[in-house]
Amino acid sequence: MLNIFKKTNNSNDNFELDYNNIPKHIAIIMDGNGRWAKKKNLPRTFGHKAGVETIRKIIKECNKLGVKYLTLYAFSTENWKRPAEEVNSLMGLLVEYLKKEFDELNRNDVVINYIGDISKLPHNCQTELVKAKEKTINNNGVVMNLALNYGGRSEIINAFNSLLSNLSGEELKNISITEEMLEKHLYTAGMPDPDIIIRPSGEQRISNFLLWQCAYSEFWYSDILWPDFTEKDLQKAIYDYQNRERRFGGI
Ligand code: FPP
Repeated sequence: MLNIFKKTNNSNDNFELDYNNIPKHIAIIMDGNGRWAKKKNLPRTFGHKAGVETIRKIIKECNKLGVKYLTLYAFSTENWKRPAEEVNSLMGLLVEYLKKEFDELNRNDVVINYIGDISKLPHNCQTELVKAKEKTINNNGVVMNLALNYGGRSEIINAFNSLLSNLSGEELKNISITEEMLEKHLYTAGMPDPDIIIRPSGEQRISNFLLWQCAYSEFWYSDILWPDFTEKDLQKAIYDYQNRERRFGGI
């Protein structure tokens, strides 16, 4: 149901979203899985498993709210520094997730996409990702971008290299690169920049995530650990976003 009224109540849990102003693109740094597990005296990998449950809920909610793009930071270019056991477990979870959840995601019209250099991921991860992307490319629901082996700096470098590799020697001498030219070579080419970037778990940094695209994103932080993050928390972030004034450098 469309609701043209907003700000009906300012208290924390009692608010009404403006369904005419849902962010087109939400990006999330899914942080806090390790601490969640530690608090429960469980191995870190249990935290990641619980994090997958949250992904399931949040995708459904985004679809319900009409969010067009949801970008989830699942594995950064720096996460290779983690113990091999944890890295392997994350890769295993990814394959399990894509296999187990594919039918439901597809039924819910979700487009499964990825950003990042997946060529460095184990072969079975690459195969499942490519298959899922191909099979869901014509769906009309939320586009779920899984950021995998993703780093904002390497994305920008790759974009430059890809742009320059298309040019001849003479063209290179006279080239003056514009933002629009570079954007066409980013992993997110053709997508709107994130309206809001959410980071749970109490950390307040960008961690090499969407460095180019976050130029005018709104940031929303929360102390909740990702496995405890709920649909209501997502709505709170959106409500907060809806009550901010975005000026994009203007007045
Ligand atoms: C950060 O929390 C989380 C990650 C590096 C991985 C996120 C992955 C998942 C939620 C599950 C796997 C993804 C898919 C798509 C199946 P952390 O481990 O750094 O937590 P901490 O800061 O509390 O240690």
